[in-house]
Amino acid sequence: MKSRWYKDAVIYQIYPRSFKDSNGDGIGDIKGITEKLDYIKDLGVDAVWLSPCYKSPNDDNGYDISDYCDIMDDFGTLEDWQEMIDGLHKRGIKLIMDLVVNHTSDEHVWFKEAIKSKDNPYHDYYIWRKGNGKRPPNNWQACFTGSAWQYVEHLDEYYLHLFSVKQPDLNWRNEKVREEVKNICKYWLDKGVDGFRCDVITYIAKPENMNGNISYSAYVTGEHWEEYINELARECWNKYDTLIVGEATGVNKKRAEEITDEKKELLDTLFHFEHMQTDAYFGYLPKKLDLVKFKRTLSNWQRSPRSVWQSLYYENHDQPRSIPRFMPSGKWREYSAKALATSLFFQRGTPYIFEGQEIGMTNARFTREEFKDIASINILKVIDKRAPFLSNFAIKALNIKARDHARTPMQWSSNKNAGFTDGTPWMKINDNYKEINVEDDLKDENSVLNFYKKMLKVRKEYIDITRDGDYNDIDIRNRSVFAYSRTLNDKKLVVLVNFKSKPSKVKLDGIKLDNAKVILNNAGNVPFVKNGYAMLAPCQSVVYALSK
Ligand code: GLC
Ligand code: CA
Repeated sequence: MKSRWYKDAVIYQIYPRSFKDSNGDGIGDIKGITEKLDYIKDLGVDAVWLSPCYKSPNDDNGYDISDYCDIMDDFGTLEDWQEMIDGLHKRGIKLIMDLVVNHTSDEHVWFKEAIKSKDNPYHDYYIWRKGNGKRPPNNWQACFTGSAWQYVEHLDEYYLHLFSVKQPDLNWRNEKVREEVKNICKYWLDKGVDGFRCDVITYIAKPENMNGNISYSAYVTGEHWEEYINELARECWNKYDTLIVGEATGVNKKRAEEITDEKKELLDTLFHFEHMQTDAYFGYLPKKLDLVKFKRTLSNWQRSPRSVWQSLYYENHDQPRSIPRFMPSGKWREYSAKALATSLFFQRGTPYIFEGQEIGMTNARFTREEFKDIASINILKVIDKRAPFLSNFAIKALNIKARDHARTPMQWSSNKNAGFTDGTPWMKINDNYKEINVEDDLKDENSVLNFYKKMLKVRKEYIDITRDGDYNDIDIRNRSVFAYSRTLNDKKLVVLVNFKSKPSKVKLDGIKLDNAKVILNNAGNVPFVKNGYAMLAPCQSVVYALSK
């Protein structure tokens, strides 16, 4: 059944709350997306990944679902959704929905039943354990701070929540839970959805024994994980022409290759996080980007076996903006946005664009009150309580690392509220919307947006090489330039990207560029090549095509 269409595709991620508000309540919605379908089509993408739009009390902006088969009130109705998917399909664009089934909302009817009593038929839909004396069953901390266990007095049991206390984890050992998940998938696939991005899917299988001091790795693709996923794949996903992409938190490359191998019928591909950790000591504690490590990490994943397919991204709704994260902002912003895109889009795999990345949106500046994400808010709460002398430092760190940066509303124009809403936006709009917005970018032929369009066309033109070519590092130790080649038979692409706002030299490792054709360039001049080196202008990116 699988055509593996995604191997030729570029995917655009929409975070619906922040994309476009159609009715003036300050919250992005489905009709807002439908208004912008021509914009998405013109960009040249092949599919959209929509972050959750299901019914939810929004403890974690829709990643806490209270009804999997209906649309969040803030976002509209099932009819609106149908109109949107029809509009996408009419334009030849596929739709990937977010599948959040590691946990539900505590306001889901299953949990409301489950918590009533131990013999309620839904009790076993979730994960319950006795405490260790007065303490929780084990040492696990939730992603959003605090113990991962919540005590329920009338049951004298704890339930597990790897995320917020309002996101109880589902018990995948229960066959009925797995049936429910299949039914949810089938429901949307029958409505025409083309695949799923599976939220923290690597966490679904918990060990039977969870008492005491348990390693966190115990729940990363743990006991029975492959059986559960294979069951879903065989009995549901693979009966349709789907893309199944997993969010693979905590998975190393070796394990990733096992669970995305085409022969295995598990996930088609996954998002790993290794390159996202090259500018942090850990978690939200930022440090300067180590470019060589960044390159080595990406290059290492590029050299996976042929039967493994990569997902390529620098941004999503959980990450700060790639500018200024990986390249300079300010007067270099437009060069940086184009250069970063170039460094990513010619690698082997399916590239993702996160809304706003295509116009080079940047990190915002937040005061304490302006953070909206539960992760940021909880971190600040804990620090205020335990180490108030670090509060200002925490605000600074969040101004570099918070997920909020990705979630500021899309900048459509220089009009009031960046053209996102006529009402009061649910979240701060980045102060720079007068300089960075879609309307201006559409008018300027050298804009970031127009560069993206061109780049997507070029990529399509050379799709054989970008899809199937071998990946090779060029001058991997260079601390300023990210360079690589892709080779298919007698054809080659050479990608050179200067990450620094100063001229930089790159050693070409014997590749001759004399007869090469420049197929993409973010700067005025073509690099000067001499004695086996190329000299790049500040933040310059170039792609050459060569044939023997
Ligand atoms: C994933 C989502 C993130 C969410 C978490 C819990 O990491 O991408 O936004 O908070 O899962 O569902
Ligand atoms: Ca709205």
